[in-house]
Amino acid sequence: MATVLITGSTDGLGRAAAQSLLDAGHQVVLHARSADRAATIAGLASRAAGIVVGDLRSAVETMSIADQVNAIGRMDAVIHNAGVYSERSRGSSPEGHAGILAINTLAPYMLTALIERPGRLVYLSSGLHRGGEGSLRDLDWTKRPWDPARAYAESKLHVVALAFALARRWPQVFSNAVDPGWARTKMGGSSAPVDIDTGQRTQTWLAVSHDPAALVTGLYWHHLRREQPASEATDPEFQNRLIARLGELTGVALPA
Ligand SMILES: NC(=O)c1ccc[n+]([C@@H]2O[C@H](COP(=O)([O-])OP(=O)(O)OC[C@H]3O[C@@H](n4cnc5c(N)ncnc54)[C@H](OP(=O)(O)O)[C@@H]3O)[C@@H](O)[C@H]2O)c1
Repeated sequence: MATVLITGSTDGLGRAAAQSLLDAGHQVVLHARSADRAATIAGLASRAAGIVVGDLRSAVETMSIADQVNAIGRMDAVIHNAGVYSERSRGSSPEGHAGILAINTLAPYMLTALIERPGRLVYLSSGLHRGGEGSLRDLDWTKRPWDPARAYAESKLHVVALAFALARRWPQVFSNAVDPGWARTKMGGSSAPVDIDTGQRTQTWLAVSHDPAALVTGLYWHHLRREQPASEATDPEFQNRLIARLGELTGVALPA
Protein backbone atom coordinates (compact mmCIF):
# COMPACT_ATOMS: atom_id res chain seq x y z
CA MET A 1 0.00 0.00 0.00
CA ALA A 2 1.27 3.44 -0.91
CA THR A 3 1.40 6.74 0.96
CA VAL A 4 0.04 9.54 -1.22
CA LEU A 5 -0.13 13.31 -0.68
CA ILE A 6 -2.99 15.03 -2.52
CA THR A 7 -2.96 18.83 -2.60
CA GLY A 8 -6.38 20.49 -2.48
CA SER A 9 -8.14 17.51 -0.95
CA THR A 10 -10.93 19.48 0.73
CA ASP A 11 -13.16 19.44 -2.34
CA GLY A 12 -13.71 18.22 -5.89
CA LEU A 13 -11.32 15.84 -7.60
CA GLY A 14 -8.77 15.99 -4.77
CA ARG A 15 -11.29 14.94 -2.15
CA ALA A 16 -12.65 12.23 -4.46
CA ALA A 17 -9.12 10.94 -5.08
CA ALA A 18 -8.48 10.84 -1.32
CA GLN A 19 -11.71 8.93 -0.74
CA SER A 20 -10.93 6.43 -3.47
CA LEU A 21 -7.36 5.79 -2.26
CA LEU A 22 -8.48 5.43 1.37
CA ASP A 23 -11.23 3.00 0.31
CA ALA A 24 -8.57 0.94 -1.50
CA GLY A 25 -6.48 0.77 1.69
CA HIS A 26 -3.78 3.31 0.84
CA GLN A 27 -2.35 5.87 3.25
CA VAL A 28 -3.33 9.39 2.31
CA VAL A 29 -1.93 12.71 3.44
CA LEU A 30 -4.60 15.37 2.96
CA HIS A 31 -4.06 19.08 2.36
CA ALA A 32 -6.32 22.02 3.22
CA ARG A 33 -5.76 25.74 2.68
CA SER A 34 -6.69 26.61 6.29
CA ALA A 35 -7.66 25.07 9.60
CA ASP A 36 -11.29 25.99 8.85
CA ARG A 37 -11.20 24.12 5.55
CA ALA A 38 -9.44 21.18 7.23
CA ALA A 39 -12.34 20.98 9.70
CA THR A 40 -14.76 20.32 6.82
CA ILE A 41 -13.01 17.01 6.04
CA ALA A 42 -12.70 15.76 9.61
CA GLY A 43 -14.32 12.46 8.59
CA LEU A 44 -11.70 11.80 5.90
CA ALA A 45 -8.93 13.11 8.12
CA SER A 46 -9.77 10.56 10.80
CA ARG A 47 -8.86 7.83 8.28
CA ALA A 48 -5.83 9.66 6.82
CA ALA A 49 -2.12 9.39 7.59
CA GLY A 50 -2.06 13.15 8.19
CA ILE A 51 -3.33 16.51 7.10
CA VAL A 52 -1.14 19.44 6.15
CA VAL A 53 -2.40 23.02 6.11
CA GLY A 54 -1.41 26.06 4.10
CA ASP A 55 -2.57 28.48 1.42
CA LEU A 56 -0.78 27.79 -1.86
CA ARG A 57 -1.17 31.44 -2.86
CA SER A 58 1.56 32.22 -0.31
CA ALA A 59 5.16 31.10 -0.85
CA VAL A 60 5.76 31.14 2.90
CA GLU A 61 2.78 28.86 3.55
CA THR A 62 3.75 26.63 0.61
CA MET A 63 7.20 26.16 2.15
CA SER A 64 5.53 25.32 5.44
CA ILE A 65 3.40 22.67 3.68
CA ALA A 66 6.60 21.07 2.36
CA ASP A 67 8.05 21.05 5.89
CA GLN A 68 4.86 19.50 7.29
CA VAL A 69 4.92 16.76 4.63
CA ASN A 70 8.60 16.01 5.22
CA ALA A 71 7.91 15.74 8.95
CA ILE A 72 5.33 13.01 8.21
CA GLY A 73 7.83 11.10 6.07
CA ARG A 74 8.58 10.22 2.46
CA MET A 75 5.57 10.03 0.15
CA ASP A 76 5.37 7.24 -2.42
CA ALA A 77 3.40 9.59 -4.65
CA VAL A 78 2.28 13.21 -4.76
CA ILE A 79 -0.79 14.29 -6.70
CA HIS A 80 -0.49 18.03 -7.41
CA ASN A 81 -4.22 18.63 -7.70
CA ALA A 82 -5.08 21.99 -6.08
CA GLY A 83 -5.91 24.71 -8.53
CA VAL A 84 -8.08 27.70 -9.37
CA TYR A 85 -9.76 28.48 -12.66
CA SER A 86 -11.24 31.89 -13.20
CA GLU A 87 -9.57 34.73 -11.38
CA ARG A 88 -11.33 38.06 -12.01
CA SER A 89 -8.10 40.02 -11.91
CA ARG A 90 -4.40 39.36 -11.84
CA GLY A 91 -4.49 39.84 -8.10
CA SER A 92 -1.32 39.71 -6.11
CA SER A 93 0.06 36.94 -3.96
CA PRO A 94 1.84 37.97 -0.75
CA GLU A 95 5.04 37.89 -2.84
CA GLY A 96 3.47 40.04 -5.59
CA HIS A 97 2.80 37.32 -8.17
CA ALA A 98 -0.38 36.84 -10.18
CA GLY A 99 -2.70 34.77 -7.96
CA ILE A 100 -3.31 32.01 -10.48
CA LEU A 101 0.41 31.73 -11.28
CA ALA A 102 1.18 31.43 -7.56
CA ILE A 103 -1.41 28.70 -6.92
CA ASN A 104 -1.36 26.70 -10.17
CA THR A 105 2.30 26.98 -11.20
CA LEU A 106 4.64 28.30 -8.50
CA ALA A 107 3.19 26.20 -5.66
CA PRO A 108 3.49 22.80 -7.41
CA TYR A 109 6.99 23.77 -8.54
CA MET A 110 8.03 24.72 -4.98
CA LEU A 111 6.46 21.65 -3.41
CA THR A 112 8.20 19.46 -6.00
CA ALA A 113 11.54 21.05 -5.17
CA LEU A 114 11.10 21.01 -1.38
CA ILE A 115 9.29 17.74 -0.59
CA GLU A 116 11.51 14.68 -0.23
CA ARG A 117 11.54 13.10 -3.68
CA PRO A 118 8.65 10.61 -4.05
CA GLY A 119 8.47 7.64 -6.40
CA ARG A 120 5.68 9.15 -8.47
CA LEU A 121 4.50 12.64 -9.36
CA VAL A 122 1.15 13.47 -10.94
CA TYR A 123 0.19 16.98 -12.05
CA LEU A 124 -3.40 18.01 -12.77
CA SER A 125 -3.49 19.84 -16.07
CA SER A 126 -6.38 20.46 -18.46
CA GLY A 127 -7.14 20.14 -22.16
CA LEU A 128 -7.23 23.94 -22.04
CA HIS A 129 -3.43 23.95 -21.65
CA ARG A 130 -3.24 23.91 -25.44
CA GLY A 131 -4.25 27.59 -25.42
CA GLY A 132 -1.29 28.55 -23.23
CA GLU A 133 1.64 28.49 -25.62
CA GLY A 134 3.94 31.51 -25.62
CA SER A 135 3.56 32.18 -21.89
CA LEU A 136 7.24 32.66 -21.08
CA ARG A 137 7.21 36.13 -22.63
CA ASP A 138 5.24 37.48 -19.64
CA LEU A 139 4.86 34.61 -17.18
CA ASP A 140 3.73 36.81 -14.27
CA TRP A 141 1.29 39.05 -16.16
CA THR A 142 3.12 42.30 -15.49
CA LYS A 143 2.93 43.59 -19.10
CA ARG A 144 -0.30 42.22 -20.62
CA PRO A 145 -3.92 43.13 -19.94
CA TRP A 146 -5.47 40.48 -17.70
CA ASP A 147 -7.05 37.53 -19.50
CA PRO A 148 -8.31 34.88 -17.03
CA ALA A 149 -8.89 32.12 -19.58
CA ARG A 150 -5.44 32.60 -21.05
CA ALA A 151 -3.85 32.73 -17.57
CA TYR A 152 -5.47 29.41 -16.65
CA ALA A 153 -4.39 27.83 -19.96
CA GLU A 154 -0.83 28.98 -19.41
CA SER A 155 -0.73 27.64 -15.84
CA LYS A 156 -1.92 24.25 -17.08
CA LEU A 157 0.72 24.23 -19.83
CA HIS A 158 3.34 24.97 -17.18
CA VAL A 159 2.50 21.89 -15.14
CA VAL A 160 2.63 19.59 -18.18
CA ALA A 161 6.05 21.01 -19.06
CA LEU A 162 7.10 20.66 -15.41
CA ALA A 163 5.99 17.02 -15.33
CA PHE A 164 7.96 16.30 -18.49
CA ALA A 165 11.03 18.24 -17.32
CA LEU A 166 11.06 16.11 -14.18
CA ALA A 167 10.70 12.93 -16.19
CA ARG A 168 13.97 13.86 -17.93
CA ARG A 169 15.72 15.22 -14.83
CA TRP A 170 14.72 12.53 -12.33
CA PRO A 171 14.55 9.31 -14.40
CA GLN A 172 13.94 7.17 -11.32
CA VAL A 173 10.64 9.04 -10.67
CA PHE A 174 7.45 8.43 -12.68
CA SER A 175 6.23 11.94 -13.54
CA ASN A 176 3.05 12.44 -15.56
CA ALA A 177 0.34 15.02 -16.28
CA VAL A 178 -3.42 14.42 -16.40
CA ASP A 179 -6.37 16.13 -18.05
CA PRO A 180 -9.30 14.96 -15.89
CA GLY A 181 -11.88 16.20 -18.39
CA TRP A 182 -14.59 18.74 -17.68
CA ALA A 183 -15.80 17.30 -14.38
CA ARG A 184 -18.71 18.09 -12.04
CA THR A 185 -16.95 19.88 -9.17
CA LYS A 186 -16.99 23.35 -7.64
CA MET A 187 -14.65 24.36 -10.48
CA GLY A 188 -16.34 22.43 -13.29
CA GLY A 189 -19.92 23.29 -12.32
CA SER A 190 -23.03 21.12 -12.21
CA SER A 191 -23.51 20.87 -15.99
CA ALA A 192 -20.07 19.34 -16.64
CA PRO A 193 -20.32 16.02 -18.51
CA VAL A 194 -17.75 14.02 -16.53
CA ASP A 195 -18.72 12.53 -13.15
CA ILE A 196 -16.34 13.07 -10.28
CA ASP A 197 -15.31 9.42 -9.99
CA THR A 198 -14.25 9.27 -13.64
CA GLY A 199 -12.52 12.61 -13.13
CA GLN A 200 -10.33 11.31 -10.29
CA ARG A 201 -9.55 7.86 -11.70
CA THR A 202 -6.51 8.52 -13.91
CA GLN A 203 -4.49 10.40 -11.29
CA THR A 204 -5.09 7.81 -8.57
CA TRP A 205 -4.21 5.01 -11.01
CA LEU A 206 -0.94 6.75 -11.94
CA ALA A 207 -0.20 7.33 -8.25
CA VAL A 208 -0.54 3.77 -6.99
CA SER A 209 -1.18 1.16 -9.68
CA HIS A 210 1.34 -1.60 -10.43
CA ASP A 211 -0.25 -2.11 -13.85
CA PRO A 212 2.76 -1.88 -16.25
CA ALA A 213 0.80 0.72 -18.22
CA ALA A 214 0.94 3.05 -15.19
CA LEU A 215 4.68 2.55 -14.58
CA VAL A 216 5.70 5.11 -17.17
CA THR A 217 6.99 8.66 -17.17
CA GLY A 218 6.80 11.86 -19.17
CA LEU A 219 3.31 11.28 -20.55
CA TYR A 220 0.04 13.23 -20.75
CA TRP A 221 -3.13 11.33 -19.85
CA HIS A 222 -6.88 11.68 -20.27
CA HIS A 223 -9.24 9.05 -18.84
CA LEU A 224 -6.58 6.33 -18.65
CA ARG A 225 -5.38 6.96 -22.20
CA ARG A 226 -2.30 8.73 -23.44
CA GLU A 227 -2.83 11.89 -25.43
CA GLN A 228 -0.54 14.28 -27.25
CA PRO A 229 -0.08 17.55 -25.34
CA ALA A 230 0.84 20.97 -26.74
CA SER A 231 4.18 20.93 -28.52
CA GLU A 232 5.79 23.46 -26.15
CA ALA A 233 5.25 21.08 -23.24
CA THR A 234 7.38 18.44 -24.94
CA ASP A 235 10.13 20.87 -25.97
CA PRO A 236 13.19 20.47 -23.69
CA GLU A 237 14.25 24.05 -24.37
CA PHE A 238 10.86 25.39 -23.23
CA GLN A 239 11.00 23.11 -20.18
CA ASN A 240 14.49 24.38 -19.25
CA ARG A 241 13.52 28.02 -19.69
CA LEU A 242 10.38 27.48 -17.61
CA ILE A 243 12.30 25.80 -14.77
CA ALA A 244 14.86 28.62 -14.83
CA ARG A 245 12.09 31.28 -14.61
CA LEU A 246 10.30 29.42 -11.82
CA GLY A 247 13.59 29.25 -9.93
CA GLU A 248 14.04 33.02 -10.35
CA LEU A 249 10.45 33.85 -9.34
CA THR A 250 10.43 31.62 -6.24
CA GLY A 251 14.08 31.70 -5.18
CA VAL A 252 13.81 27.91 -4.90
CA ALA A 253 16.14 25.76 -6.99
CA LEU A 254 14.98 22.44 -8.35
CA PRO A 255 17.40 19.75 -7.17
CA ALA A 256 19.39 18.07 -9.95
N1 LIG B 1 -13.24 20.24 -12.79
C1 LIG B 1 -12.83 20.32 -14.04
O1 LIG B 1 -13.64 20.35 -14.99
C2 LIG B 1 -11.36 20.34 -14.36
C3 LIG B 1 -10.96 20.25 -15.71
C4 LIG B 1 -9.61 20.25 -16.03
C5 LIG B 1 -8.67 20.35 -15.01
N2 LIG B 1 -9.08 20.45 -13.69
C6 LIG B 1 -8.02 20.57 -12.67
O2 LIG B 1 -8.26 19.61 -11.66
C7 LIG B 1 -7.81 20.10 -10.39
C8 LIG B 1 -8.91 19.95 -9.36
O3 LIG B 1 -10.04 20.70 -9.82
P1 LIG B 1 -11.48 20.58 -9.13
O4 LIG B 1 -12.46 20.64 -10.23
O5 LIG B 1 -11.51 19.48 -8.16
O6 LIG B 1 -11.52 22.00 -8.39
P2 LIG B 1 -12.31 22.42 -7.04
O7 LIG B 1 -13.53 21.59 -6.88
O8 LIG B 1 -12.44 23.90 -7.14
O9 LIG B 1 -11.27 22.04 -5.90
C9 LIG B 1 -10.00 22.66 -5.88
C10 LIG B 1 -9.24 22.25 -4.65
O10 LIG B 1 -8.03 23.05 -4.61
C11 LIG B 1 -8.01 23.77 -3.38
N3 LIG B 1 -7.36 25.08 -3.50
C12 LIG B 1 -7.67 26.07 -4.37
N4 LIG B 1 -6.92 27.16 -4.12
C13 LIG B 1 -6.12 26.83 -3.07
C14 LIG B 1 -5.14 27.55 -2.34
N5 LIG B 1 -4.83 28.83 -2.62
N6 LIG B 1 -4.51 26.92 -1.33
C15 LIG B 1 -4.84 25.66 -1.02
N7 LIG B 1 -5.76 24.93 -1.65
C16 LIG B 1 -6.40 25.52 -2.67
C17 LIG B 1 -9.47 23.92 -3.00
O11 LIG B 1 -9.57 24.27 -1.65
P3 LIG B 1 -10.98 24.86 -1.05
O12 LIG B 1 -11.86 23.64 -0.92
O13 LIG B 1 -10.59 25.48 0.23
O14 LIG B 1 -11.49 25.83 -2.08
C18 LIG B 1 -9.99 22.55 -3.35
O15 LIG B 1 -9.65 21.62 -2.36
C19 LIG B 1 -7.40 21.56 -10.64
O16 LIG B 1 -6.00 21.64 -10.76
C20 LIG B 1 -8.07 21.90 -11.96
O17 LIG B 1 -7.39 22.91 -12.66
C21 LIG B 1 -10.39 20.45 -13.35
